Amino acid sequence: MAARTTRQKRRPRAPIEATGGAELRIGRQRILTGDCADALASLAPASVDLVVTSPPYNIGIAYRTYRDDRPREQYLGWFAAIGASIARVLKPDGSFFLNVGSTSADPWIALDVAQTLRARFRLQNHIQWVKSVSIGEDSLGHFKPISSRRFLNHNHEAIFHFTRTGAVPIDRLAIGVPFKDKSNIARWGHARDRRCAGNVWFIPYRTVQSRAEKFDHPAGFPVELAERCIRLHGVKDALVLDPFLGAGSTLVAAARLGCRGIGIEIDPQYARTAAERLKNGIPARNRAKI
Ligand SMILES: C[S@@+](CC[C@H](N)C(=O)[O-])C[C@H]1O[C@@H](n2cnc3c(N)ncnc32)[C@H](O)[C@@H]1O
Repeated sequence: MAARTTRQKRRPRAPIEATGGAELRIGRQRILTGDCADALASLAPASVDLVVTSPPYNIGIAYRTYRDDRPREQYLGWFAAIGASIARVLKPDGSFFLNVGSTSADPWIALDVAQTLRARFRLQNHIQWVKSVSIGEDSLGHFKPISSRRFLNHNHEAIFHFTRTGAVPIDRLAIGVPFKDKSNIARWGHARDRRCAGNVWFIPYRTVQSRAEKFDHPAGFPVELAERCIRLHGVKDALVLDPFLGAGSTLVAAARLGCRGIGIEIDPQYARTAAERLKNGIPARNRAKI
């Protein structure tokens, strides 16, 4: 790392303010330590602009507190109740981005979880988060390889964009890309060189050498994933909620974009890690990769 010069001012660090036992405040971000089933009940109805979250997938991940191996029906019933609480706190024009993965041996998981929300939400967009892709002989990104004579390596997860009506306007160009063929700009009357990037998002994990670089959490998603969801919904004055905060990626994204955020995490150590990440800020050199 290059030495800091006197001209490079250290970014002021937001204080962590304890607001009574289970709540931490870091700037515009609040972290509630506890069970989201309880904490969601304490939030006002129709108060949240968007939810970006990734629950446990019930695939036996070794979390510190939560047991990730429940009978399937119990797990789905539990998640359906959380979905009902999210529906209560979400504004009528809010967005609920739900990231759920599956395994090669159990590809139904994400779809089963999504089905639990069907009575309350419309599935407005179904996004594929691609972690690794091979193009020709080249491969990009990281994935956990499996040893199998039946299954392919599992390189993607779902991001379901649920809304109450299925008709919530989104800001497609906020996460858009330039046209490849510039003649399309005038031909189709576009105001600027930006087109919708579509519903396949290649967001690789950054290369890490240690658990500490993954914030000692076994199942985080990249901050960029949450950033894209927030920007797609629209950042203006947004209050962002993550009821399964983990090591805090969603609130890091909310803080970067100047949004208010609330995160709920059942494990006190993960909650403290999230608070530390927010307090320390993100070094500029890592911003695009984290
Ligand atoms: C898939 S991880 C979320 C990772 C997060 N997106 C990140 O990037 O760090 C799911 C998290 O939910 C937490 N959790 C499990 N049950 C919970 C509950 N009832 N209330 C709040 N958090 C819970 C787990 O401890 C775990 O950290």
